[in-house]
Amino acid sequence: MTKVTMTVNGKPASGDVEGRTLLVQFLRENLRLTGTHVGCDTSQCGACVVHVDGKAVKSCTMLAAEADGAEVTTIEGMANADGSLNTIQQAFQDHHGLQCGFCTPGMVMSASALLADNPRPTEAEVRDYLEGNICRCTGYHNIVKAIMAASGQDVGAIAAE
Ligand code: FES
Ligand code: FES
Repeated sequence: MTKVTMTVNGKPASGDVEGRTLLVQFLRENLRLTGTHVGCDTSQCGACVVHVDGKAVKSCTMLAAEADGAEVTTIEGMANADGSLNTIQQAFQDHHGLQCGFCTPGMVMSASALLADNPRPTEAEVRDYLEGNICRCTGYHNIVKAIMAASGQDVGAIAAE
């Protein structure tokens, strides 16, 4: 076992992990931050996306030990300080960007990383960026709409599906 220490959602977190323990396991099982989901075992679905040192990462592709010393943000750290939904989360609600919600944490984390890099993405850029996030319910249309709305763009021109 190895001790890992990191900052998760602004607070210090540590625990003993095996060398093979994935970051997603550490978050879910050691820290009980179960908003980060596991939707596949092939690194394809993106339900496990978190931010590590400001970058979107599939937490099933990284060992917990590799995140030692890192700043990690999970979906639990995304709400505003008063507990209200942040702009992206609110836009998902307003534009029906979710159905079952299983993919939503990963979608929100990816969307947040996209908007940090590209504050006014085009529809094509949003769709391209979400290539690593799979949703089995929505058909993606309202997710794209929500992300564009969160970036402050008029989504009236994006036809309803
Ligand atoms: S659980 Fe990480 S990509 Fe599916
Ligand atoms: S809302 Fe169900 S998987 Fe995306």
